[in-house]
Amino acid sequence: MPTVKFVNEKKEVEVPEGTSVRAAALQVGINVHQGLNGIGAGINSVINCHGLGQCGTCRVLITKGIENASPMAMMEKAKFAVPVPDPLPCFAYIGNEDTMRLSCSAKVMGDMEVVTGPELNLFGENFFS
Ligand code: FES
Repeated sequence: MPTVKFVNEKKEVEVPEGTSVRAAALQVGINVHQGLNGIGAGINSVINCHGLGQCGTCRVLITKGIENASPMAMMEKAKFAVPVPDPLPCFAYIGNEDTMRLSCSAKVMGDMEVVTGPELNLFGENFFS
């Protein structure tokens, strides 16, 4: 079974192939709904779409083993490309196109390392480029 390592939380979990990254996180008590740079993480852990790919709050970075994640589906691509009703997923995606995924949509197909709650760099050099 593939292993998912959550870097910030220093936790690992083995999951059956095809498990979503979000489900893997929940198995070890990790909240992937981190809000805006950690603000709102508490309320987002309750108020989210619960894995339907609609809210965009479950975004993570897959820093190692991105090739072991399922390909991005159309709904997930749309969440990162269309800034309505919530522009935050689109903003967060800028500069992280190679590693950012919605944890509810990305399926674990092999070993990977995941960073939860990637910060939104509102003043970074890539933001307005
Ligand atoms: S849980 Fe809402 S988009 Fe993933």
